Amino acid sequence: MTRYIISNPEASRGEPTRLNGTVKVQGAKNAALPLIAAAVLTDKEAVLTNCPDITDVENMLKIYSSLGGVTERRGDTVRLRLEYMRSHEIPSGLAGELRSSVFMLGSVLARSGKAKVAYPGGCDIGLRPIDIHLKALSEMGVKVSDRYGYLLCDAADAHGAEVTLDYPSVGATENVMLLAAGIPGKTVIHNAAREPEIEDLGNFLTAMGAEVLGAGTQVITICGTKERGGVEYRVMPDRIAAGTYLIAAAANGGSVTLKDVRPEHIFSLIGKLRFAGAEIDLYSDSVTISASGRPKAVGVVETGAYPGFPTDLQAPFSVLAAVSEGSTVIVENIFETRFKHVAELTKMGASVKVKGRVAVFEGVKRLTAAKVQAMDLRGGAALITAGLKANGTTVVENGYHIERGYVRPEEVFGSLGAYIIKV
Ligand code: EPZ
Repeated sequence: MTRYIISNPEASRGEPTRLNGTVKVQGAKNAALPLIAAAVLTDKEAVLTNCPDITDVENMLKIYSSLGGVTERRGDTVRLRLEYMRSHEIPSGLAGELRSSVFMLGSVLARSGKAKVAYPGGCDIGLRPIDIHLKALSEMGVKVSDRYGYLLCDAADAHGAEVTLDYPSVGATENVMLLAAGIPGKTVIHNAAREPEIEDLGNFLTAMGAEVLGAGTQVITICGTKERGGVEYRVMPDRIAAGTYLIAAAANGGSVTLKDVRPEHIFSLIGKLRFAGAEIDLYSDSVTISASGRPKAVGVVETGAYPGFPTDLQAPFSVLAAVSEGSTVIVENIFETRFKHVAELTKMGASVKVKGRVAVFEGVKRLTAAKVQAMDLRGGAALITAGLKANGTTVVENGYHIERGYVRPEEVFGSLGAYIIKV
């Protein structure tokens, strides 16, 4: 079982390990996953560069292979080819493992006219229903039935449509884009998700031969095509990994430069970190943060759909809240149970009260090392960040959660001066 061990020799002198140096930000997990789903749409070769080597991506590539695809990874470049569909069923073992398998639905339906997928269960952060996905696909003529925990979908009569999402769901937006790109006709998505990863998917589908306008805005128009060519595409930088590292620098102090990052993707976080007292310089594709002394509490942080404060940075940010001077209120508006890391932070001396979707932190000067459990991906990353700040040696167990979305965080933090190993 993977564990991360973070020790803090500086802490004995009252000072946490300051972080100093320059790191390149990995490719975005939440862009790479829909792009792999989009590669199902073509029988030509798709090449993804800057594709992060993380377990969620590897599992998505396994699903792609189970459909009849061939994949090859060389460093951060992944080559994919699905010349002939061998199956239209997304294996339940993998579907259960990976929430994002659900948006394979759109592309498998477009490519083969039918799809079978295990109902993606809830996960560590909430129920994760897919009603918005299914309602939109049904409005496009997809017939959906469920049997013994499987969804059986038939897209023989699928057509372009004007759909309005009840909520700007990222996955539902991607699913509709994938189906729409693969069938003739025009589809318009209203109340679409505006996350940058949607824009990346729109660019990829356009490069493949579909016509996609407005990706990244609330209204997306897709004109699909039966003629889909091969694509070579660079995965966008991971804004959540970038934000995680910036938060760690703000909490610990030091001077850190992140290369290959799109500052405009994390403006909501940058505003909060500046308020906490960090100095942040923005460049076209890099960000430099300098912090010293104890961070100041920022008041209220509410997560929201993009461009609001990202729910995926809520857990990492809670570590900054835990050690800031003053009180911080964090409101998690997107997922029902995304505070599982808080109980672990209290084991490290954090002073926090949780009621429903609200967590109130009274900042403490130092955290205390402890053995803690990662309960989900971003909560696990938060515990590593907390270990950097704690007196003594922290052990973060269930590290497999963290490996789902972060490329070798022990190397990233180690290169910035942290004492961290993975065992
Ligand atoms: C994507 O999940 C991301 N995952 C999540 O990142 C991210 O937290 C989330 O978007 C919000 O930004 C990937 O891109 C692979 P949603 P997704 O559909 O698509 C409810 C991480 O840590 N909802 O926008 O599942 C849902 O329950 C992960 O990298 C419905 O009710 O998010 C949630 O409360 C975690 N019905 C809210 O909408 C539906 O049919 C947002 O979900 C779909 C969603």
